[in-house]
Amino acid sequence: MLIHILGSGAGGGFPQWNCNCTNCLGLRTGAGNATPRTQSSITLSANGDDWVLFNASPDIRQQLASFPVLQPGRRIRDTAIRAIVLVDAQIDHTTGLLMLREHTEPWDVYCTRAVHDDLTSGFPVFNILSHFRGVNWHEIGTDQACFTIPGIEGVAFSAVPLKSEAPPYSPHRHNTVPGDNIGLRMENLASGKNLFYAPGLGELEPHVIPFMEDADCLLVDGTLWTDNEMITAGISNKHGKEMGHLDQSGEGGIIEILSGLPKPRKILIHINNTNPILLEDSPERLALDRAGIEVSYDGMEIEL
Ligand code: MLT
Ligand code: MN
Ligand code: ZN
Repeated sequence: MLIHILGSGAGGGFPQWNCNCTNCLGLRTGAGNATPRTQSSITLSANGDDWVLFNASPDIRQQLASFPVLQPGRRIRDTAIRAIVLVDAQIDHTTGLLMLREHTEPWDVYCTRAVHDDLTSGFPVFNILSHFRGVNWHEIGTDQACFTIPGIEGVAFSAVPLKSEAPPYSPHRHNTVPGDNIGLRMENLASGKNLFYAPGLGELEPHVIPFMEDADCLLVDGTLWTDNEMITAGISNKHGKEMGHLDQSGEGGIIEILSGLPKPRKILIHINNTNPILLEDSPERLALDRAGIEVSYDGMEIEL
């Protein structure tokens, strides 16, 4: 089972088009030792030919160009993407669906009922796509049951409801429901190895812990180093917690959680452009190195 990171950045990407924070400016001017990142998406295959796309980012065109295996060119219009799984209904994870409207058949899209509700109301992407080839919606339950995806044989998936935030345009924005955000366990049935993917982890609830403990590889929320990072940078008045992202450095934060897990390889994803770990020689990045935590980058591959 091969996992290819298409986009390791959070919403806005890195650098963000209108941002002059230390990181974005440093990347643009060359003063900072950092690499650009597109917005949050990964893809997985068990046979190298058929792929599942996890989240459809606004940068999907650039991401497809960066990974030609997704466009094999077997017929006049073609794609190797067999299905799309969405972990939430946020703009950085769903806008790419609009860019994929030229697909020659309905897209098989897997998401929870809560995400489906948002994508047919506050941000009606599914309704819009119904005027093209449409969407075959496959409901992902929030009961942690296993599911399979036709075409992606040999991989078992299960979804774990996570406490995070519904998007600003969601009818249940301030009244989150199970399924607004999920983590995904993906097991290669041949090797017995599994990945746990959770780009939006707002709180570590007890039911999530066994999934993290049992993972061979974790690909988890790397949005913010400190909870008030965006406030300090003068960018926003929002704390990470309000946005459904647990910071890395605080008490009970991601580093502390990961440090208690002996088994998995630990990798951060969905990294916001304000996060000092993006500067490869920053003290914060060094602290991650010491803790045995990796920072994902566009093009990174994980084999399990
Ligand atoms: C999030 O992860 O909190 C959202 O994607 C933020 C955004 O893109 O507006
Ligand atoms: Mn996001
Ligand atoms: Zn920035």
